Amino acid sequence: MSEKKFLVIAVDGGAASGKSSTSRGLAAKHNLMHVDTGAHYRTVSLSLLRRGITGADVFSATENPLENLDLGTEVREREAAMSIGGVVPADSEIRNDAVNAVVSQFAAIPEVRKFLFDYQRSQKDVAREHGFDGLIMDGRDIGSVIFPDADLRIFLTADPEARARRRAAEGIADSIAERDKLDSSRKAAPLACPEGAIKIDSTDLTLEQVVEKISAMISAL
Ligand code: DC
Repeated sequence: MSEKKFLVIAVDGGAASGKSSTSRGLAAKHNLMHVDTGAHYRTVSLSLLRRGITGADVFSATENPLENLDLGTEVREREAAMSIGGVVPADSEIRNDAVNAVVSQFAAIPEVRKFLFDYQRSQKDVAREHGFDGLIMDGRDIGSVIFPDADLRIFLTADPEARARRRAAEGIADSIAERDKLDSSRKAAPLACPEGAIKIDSTDLTLEQVVEKISAMISAL
C-alpha cells in the first residue's frame, strides 16, 4: 500500500479576504497544521515596536535588529504560533491599531522577509513531527515565494466592501485598503496571484462554501 502523501497547501490573498478562517476550516477537515504568516509579521512588528523601532532606517549592512531574536513554535491543537524568546504574544497584542499601522511597512523590508523565510519553510517539518497529514499556510507570498512547489496554491479575493463588512462583524477596525495598497506595491514579494494558482472570489460565497470548494480540490490531490 502506498504511503499517504504529506500535503502542502498555500493560501494567499489580501487583508480580510478570509484566508485564515478558510485555512482553519480546511485544517480541521484534512488533519493539517495551520500557520498564519500574517501573525509572524505582526509578532515581529510588535517586537520591533517594543524596542522603539518604527522604521526601516535601523536596518543596515552591519546592523539587523532581528539578528538575535529567538524564534520558536508553539502548536495548540491545529494552530502553530510563532514565539519570540519562548513567548507567543496574545491576539490582542498583535491585532490592534498600533500594529496594523506599521505591519505593512515592516513587511516591505527585505531583511524582515529574509529573516522569516527559513522559519516559515521549517514549519513543514514541525507539522510532520506533530503527526499532521500536511501543512496549510496562509499569507501574501506563500504560493509565490515560500512554497512555490506546494501541492495546491489558492488565491482568495473578495470585494473591498465585503472584506470591510467581515472585519466590522468581527468588531475589528482595520486599514484594509491601505494595507493592500502597500502590500501590493512593495518590491519584495508583493501581494499578487502567482501564475498557476487557483483564484477564488469569495464575495458571494459563505465561508462554508469556500471551504467546501477547496476541500474538494484537496481530496482530489
Ligand atoms: O494576514 P494579515 O492581515 O494578518 O497580515 C498582516 C500583514 O503582514 C500584511 O499587511 C502584510 C504582511 N504579510 C506579508 O507581507 N506576507 C505574508 N506572507 C503575510 C503577511
